[in-house]
Amino acid sequence: QAGVFTYDPGFTSTAACDSAITFIDGDNGVLTHRGYPIEQLATESHFLEVAYLLLYGELPTPKQQQDFETMVTRHTMIHEQMQYFFRGFRRDAHPMATMVGVVGALSAFYHDSTDINDAHHREVASIRLIAKMPTIAAMAYKYSIGQPFVYPRNDLDYAANFLHMCFAVPAEPYQVNPVIARAMDRIFTLHADHEQNASTSTVRLASSSGANPFACIAAGIACLWGPAHGGANQACLEMLREISTVDRIPEYIAKAKDKNDPFRLMGFGHRVYKNFDPRAKIMKETADEVLALLGVENNPTLQVAKELEAIALQDPYFIEKKLYPNVDFYSGIILEAIGFPTSMFTPIFALARTVGWISQWKEQLADPQLKIGRPRQLYMGDDVRKFVPINDR
Ligand code: SDX
Repeated sequence: QAGVFTYDPGFTSTAACDSAITFIDGDNGVLTHRGYPIEQLATESHFLEVAYLLLYGELPTPKQQQDFETMVTRHTMIHEQMQYFFRGFRRDAHPMATMVGVVGALSAFYHDSTDINDAHHREVASIRLIAKMPTIAAMAYKYSIGQPFVYPRNDLDYAANFLHMCFAVPAEPYQVNPVIARAMDRIFTLHADHEQNASTSTVRLASSSGANPFACIAAGIACLWGPAHGGANQACLEMLREISTVDRIPEYIAKAKDKNDPFRLMGFGHRVYKNFDPRAKIMKETADEVLALLGVENNPTLQVAKELEAIALQDPYFIEKKLYPNVDFYSGIILEAIGFPTSMFTPIFALARTVGWISQWKEQLADPQLKIGRPRQLYMGDDVRKFVPINDR
């Protein structure tokens, strides 16, 4: 039921909500968006078509898709003055810090799309955020490596434009590899939406107070950053690099099983999936495809990941706890092979998840019964007692 609060002793109270966007069957490893299985969307559709589906509930006609993609393309630039926000950060700032700051600051520039009670404002804000996230993520990356910003281009599709803004330099032409662009687009699709995960719930909670869309998405980015959530793709690749060779895997499996050791296998386990995360299977196939294309199929990180997965899936502890690879287990291997540093993995997750956050933001605002989210608590503190002045303590 919408608005029903349940209390899990192990976790803070969770606000349930109604939604018609994404369905997950964690026991059977099922993920659908508006009824379409992720396996079909990831292989037969493309990110902006999935974005249309999430936003409007139906697959678009060719004209609807054309109009939508033209609208997104025409909003990829950010206000020229916003570049100075980037220059206020240290070069070594994590790009997620920059994205939280710059996305929140969009509300200071786009006043004609901040009134959540105006349907046109909501529509324009949705398009602007989907269009500008790749530009902001690419600018955060360029700034972190001391290279000049590269402007978006209208002749490139969404994924190719992002790759061009990240890897092109003024000194020479940069040709986007279409297979890499296709893999990038598929990674966006696999991260587009995922029901009421922590960051989406954060966006919904923020939007229930009437905050403007840019502030709500900035809140979602901040939550996604955590290593237990969207930050796991960066943490997972760093873990695989630390393991470095197949013979060291048993040492890390033992650490992950040790209750006294806070170490967790990054990219493994899930709050909902107690079976394979369907996205992880597609990500693994994409990793094989991209690394073979780049001639690095013997990449040691990929070998360690595959052997770690094989060993863990046969280990009684992981079987009993129903721990399987999740979306973050293989994604970093692909992104590293494409040329991204680990610090850009979560910004890419945020870029893609913006479509899901915005779809759920719009869905929630359309609820006529919407009230501000206000989880309650079980009070575990002291009984009422009399104040003691400091000189008497
Ligand atoms: C994402 O919600 C979403 O949908 C998120 C996401 C999305 O698309 O938005 O799917 C994206 O965030 C995926 C998850 C990325 N995080 C990681 O890969 C970090 C490593 N994973 C763990 O931190 C963990 O699995 C969580 C946080 C994801 C879930 O932890 P829970 O809630 O404890 O999972 P659980 O209840 O199923 O755990 C069962 C048991 C527990 O032990 P006991 O309390 O029963 O003794 O398994 C243990 C856990 O401690 N466990 C692990 C483990 N994950 C859970 N032990 C070792 N390694 C792990 N990775």
